[in-house]
Amino acid sequence: MNILVTGGAGFIGSHTVVALAEAGFTPIIVDDFSNSRHSVLEGLEHILGDKVRYYDQNCNDAAIMRQILRDDEIVGVIHFAAFKAVEESMVDPLKYYQNNLGSLLVLLEAMQYSGVSNLIFSSSCTVYGNPDNLPVTEKTPVQPAMSVYGNTKQIGEEILRDVVAADKYMKVISLRYFNPIGAHASARIGELPLGVPNNLVPFITQTAAGMREQLTVFGNDYDTSDGTCVRDYIHVMDLAEAHVAALKSIINSESNTYDVYNVGTGRGNSVLELIRTFEEVTGTALNYVIGPRRSGDVPAVYGDVSKITNALGWTAKHNLREALEDAWRWQREI
Ligand code: UFG
Repeated sequence: MNILVTGGAGFIGSHTVVALAEAGFTPIIVDDFSNSRHSVLEGLEHILGDKVRYYDQNCNDAAIMRQILRDDEIVGVIHFAAFKAVEESMVDPLKYYQNNLGSLLVLLEAMQYSGVSNLIFSSSCTVYGNPDNLPVTEKTPVQPAMSVYGNTKQIGEEILRDVVAADKYMKVISLRYFNPIGAHASARIGELPLGVPNNLVPFITQTAAGMREQLTVFGNDYDTSDGTCVRDYIHVMDLAEAHVAALKSIINSESNTYDVYNVGTGRGNSVLELIRTFEEVTGTALNYVIGPRRSGDVPAVYGDVSKITNALGWTAKHNLREALEDAWRWQREI
């Protein structure tokens, strides 16, 4: 079964390509490489021992999307392609609405035109904003978005819910990711931030590798166990497997359906806990300082994942230590 993976050269997309192929699907990538590198394809081919099919195209091109969906006999789509830099989204909102929502609309129209009815959408725990109670469940109220990026995920979910309500064939799952980290155990693919990383783990591994002088911990005066922010860090291969489980369930579903699932580990770790675990893994001290808070950060968020476990039989298999070992192995390979 051919599965179209938009943004399949990106961090989560490339690991999902591996999980799909291992599950017996044929992944076909469409990616414009605006935030990824072609070298990802070599890594994928090494892991899979086979050529990877891909289109170097932008998902906003309706004619191309229709053509790929039809000519490649696509059965389902996993839609990763989107911009994801929170700060940039506040500076250039139109870029984010145009790309993240424009491409979703183009994709949905092309899917309806081509008779493709199975879709997995990349959403985010950012839809919960700064939650009153932890862990968050899928019933936790969605809060007004704290960034344009976050708003594109909220609006994306609403668009999908409405499209499914009006289309008796459409089957869609939105996966709300917590914080994906780590890399494939082969160290052939991993996170490849272009420029200075925004996210914690690539900044840590680059600092340990000598590419960055020092990590700044953004605030230690939050109301958490050690004062630093708490997140639910999930191994990217576990997250990839969640996509496969979700895809199988909608392919097997006979009626139209829209559902959302948290995808995390169910555990929260502070920034300092993560640093300490990384130091244990590498056996070296990380150079870090405590700095001021970063605007827009929520103090703590981690997910209740019983819904996806009960419905799809999925659960995270890797712990924080394994994820950091894999991230570090990958960093040394780059
Ligand atoms: N952090 C640091 N120093 C750094 C980078 C991050 O202390 O150099 C801290 C942050 O303050 C935060 C934690 O590490 O407490 C995790 O930060 P990340 O940037 O790795 O992840 P976020 O939780 O901020 O971001 C994630 C996703 C985004 C999404 C956001 C919404 O990566 O795509 O959640 O909450 F928008």
